[in-house]
Amino acid sequence: MIIPVRLGEASYDIEISRGAIDLAAEKIMKKDRKVCVVTDSGVPTEYAERLLASLGNGAILQVFPQGEANKNFDTLQGVLRTMLEAGFTRSDAVVALGGGVVGDLAGFAAATYMRGIDFYNIPTTLLSQVDSSVGGKTAVDLDGYKNMIGAFWQPRAVFIDPDLLATLPSRQISNGLCEALKMGATSDPELFELFESNDVLAKPDLIEEIIIKAITAKRDVVEIDEREGGLRKVLNFGHTLGHAIESSCGLSLLHGECVALGIPPMCESAELKERLAKTLGNIGLDTDAAKYISDKNTVLEALTHDKKSASGGKISAVLLKDIGSFEFVKLTPEELIERLD
Ligand SMILES: NC(=O)c1ccc[n+]([C@@H]2O[C@H](COP(=O)([O-])OP(=O)(O)OC[C@H]3O[C@@H](n4cnc5c(N)ncnc54)[C@H](O)[C@@H]3O)[C@@H](O)[C@H]2O)c1
Repeated sequence: MIIPVRLGEASYDIEISRGAIDLAAEKIMKKDRKVCVVTDSGVPTEYAERLLASLGNGAILQVFPQGEANKNFDTLQGVLRTMLEAGFTRSDAVVALGGGVVGDLAGFAAATYMRGIDFYNIPTTLLSQVDSSVGGKTAVDLDGYKNMIGAFWQPRAVFIDPDLLATLPSRQISNGLCEALKMGATSDPELFELFESNDVLAKPDLIEEIIIKAITAKRDVVEIDEREGGLRKVLNFGHTLGHAIESSCGLSLLHGECVALGIPPMCESAELKERLAKTLGNIGLDTDAAKYISDKNTVLEALTHDKKSASGGKISAVLLKDIGSFEFVKLTPEELIERLD
């Protein structure tokens, strides 16, 4: 299935199909060019070998150690230096083969090398297949603060291959499902209903449908508001507190696990909060933030650094009013912390 993303000159297609990884080379190598495949040490090597074989002689591989802690300037510099030493020019390309960490970092490398070269994304985690591979947000972290340095840089194409998830640990499946559930809660009641009325973890056949629905919902938002001037902020539902918890817990929790902790506090009614907590629980995610926060001051400090900070010391956040209905609100860091209680 092909889902087009219509963004004028930056338009591109998302190919979602079993075996999509094998379709990438034909599209990328339409031009005779060099390609830098970026991956991390946790992505099974067989995927990179398969991709490199199909890309042919022009392709080189850059592998960095897995984990959010490596989404930083040192790793970025390593990728850029590899391309420089290999003589990459503006007509060459970067391909991300990995989860959101690889995609964000490789995308930023593509955005900055010689002021921007072509970027392709082959996401290999569920989180990246339902969310991060589409929309053009690229970034690295700085001094422990998430995504502080980055750029909007749309990929030329995205290839989503659900078969690549076969090697993914179950904790990472729950992590990815959180972002899809978030999308359903704010923007697609049918998608949310899938989570509410099915034991998704016991039905792997549903995953492809979830990927299609979640990525379509994200595409619809990005087409309206590419640069997060307004509507796109809805994708941050659960992320304002989630990011702050992620920064303050020293990266011991996964991104989706932190977002799950940040979702119930941002529901308007107690009933809705309960409904979201239950549905998150069904996909293996804990929502009891108190268990993971040893010192609220560290969360407060992270909130004040939040890049979404608005003027007057208030932070933009998304309040869920009902499934499929939300409101943008501005809260002080202290008001946000109170919501955790
Ligand atoms: N750009 C965006 O719009 C956006 C949106 C949401 C999240 N993000 C970012 O995404 C990142 C999180 O992404 P993630 O959850 O994919 O984490 P990740 O990229 O760290 O991947 C998780 C782990 O799975 C391993 N892995 C990857 N593919 C695998 C496979 N097929 N089989 C087995 N292991 C595999 C990786 O090596 C890694 O250890 C965060 O940095 C977050 O900020 C970006």
